[in-house]
Amino acid sequence: MAESNLQELGQAEGKEQEVKDNRSSESVSALFPNYGARFPISLVKGQGSWLWDDQGNRYLDFFSGIAVTNLGHAPEKVKNKIKDQLDQLWHVSNLFQIPQQETAARLLTGLSSADLAFFCNSGAEANEAAIKLARRYHQKIKGEQRYEIITFKQSFHGRTLATLTATGQDKVKEGFLPLPEGFKTVELHDIEALKAAIGPNTAGIMLEMVQAEGGINLVQPEFLNEVAALCKEHGILLIVDEVQTGMGRTGKWFGHQHYGVEPDIFTLAKGVASGIAAGVMLAKGYLREAFSAGSHASTFGGNPIAATAIVATVEAMQEDQVPQRAAEMGEYLQSKLKEKLAGHPFVLDIRGKGLIVGIECDGPVAELVSEGQKNGLLFVTAGPNVIRLLPSLLVTHEEIDQAVDIIDGVIQRHQAKKE
Ligand SMILES: Cc1ncc(COP(=O)(O)O)c(C=O)c1O
Repeated sequence: MAESNLQELGQAEGKEQEVKDNRSSESVSALFPNYGARFPISLVKGQGSWLWDDQGNRYLDFFSGIAVTNLGHAPEKVKNKIKDQLDQLWHVSNLFQIPQQETAARLLTGLSSADLAFFCNSGAEANEAAIKLARRYHQKIKGEQRYEIITFKQSFHGRTLATLTATGQDKVKEGFLPLPEGFKTVELHDIEALKAAIGPNTAGIMLEMVQAEGGINLVQPEFLNEVAALCKEHGILLIVDEVQTGMGRTGKWFGHQHYGVEPDIFTLAKGVASGIAAGVMLAKGYLREAFSAGSHASTFGGNPIAATAIVATVEAMQEDQVPQRAAEMGEYLQSKLKEKLAGHPFVLDIRGKGLIVGIECDGPVAELVSEGQKNGLLFVTAGPNVIRLLPSLLVTHEEIDQAVDIIDGVIQRHQAKKE
């Protein structure tokens, strides 16, 4: 072997050894650092709105794994049905009948204006399926070369290449060039910009009812009505991303039901299976043939465990009228926050729908998240300056009172430090 090749080999081996040495050291994680510095808390148990760490500390959970554990942790009815299913059968290929999946599809379409469901494993996959369905409908059924999806600034639609391209935030795109073609992003609520973006290739317009990751920005009803009218006029599919706003979070089963619009396609994940990985794309019946045999698939999507978790989640929500409850508790949460925080110079706005609530502050809030944790309350941010509150949809008045008191204290101390 040539001298230079030997040298290269030696360098590579040296590097490999170095990596292994680092890995064996306790202080260096063997995980990719893509989640940044994780919070220094190891949660080991959850019940309802409460979590415990490995040191025995208890936390009030206004985070819900980012809008996932909508029925609280380990909800009894869902847990028992999953346990029964675990005893029977875990996985079966989608090449076979899966009755639990049929039931889940019937329940979800029964609660919405959709007629058909496709099951996958995450929000990004559900949105990816929606983008594919919209393109395929135009190209295969209508025979039109339409492929473009228009989305909005500050939106968030996922981390696959297509869904991060659809996302209206540059930070998720850095270093991933080249991005797939066929996406345009315009300002939310700028109807003229939207009209200008629509062209002969436009296949769909995709948006969230409350931009969650983007800062708790509520879509204005007049704007949404205009978007729906434009879609009708130009034969464009209206796609609503309900990954964070669906499953009762906003006080209705699905966020778009506040507005009286009927999307052609909408997507679910997060709360749909109470914490078991699941995503769903729901669509109007006339789109059926666009996903003809062999056009799209998922190995795990809607397997007996996930489908059972979805069925159990929906049934538990129906029994306890959870969306309606979320609407009432959301009003209580917002009124309490307004009562306590209105005078704080650091608090600029309190807004939300149901139990997705944002507190916009006059500066970064990352430090407040840590302070909340030290005081026994978990919550997350939405952009740099917004505190995002996502309690369980079964949260009680007392738990809301407790959380608001902690947030009040955290903000007061933060303000005092600044002065
Ligand atoms: C509105 C919205 N869409 C899509 C996604 C992506 O979902 P997942 O992380 O399950 O792929 C998220 C995740 O936060 C979301 O909030």
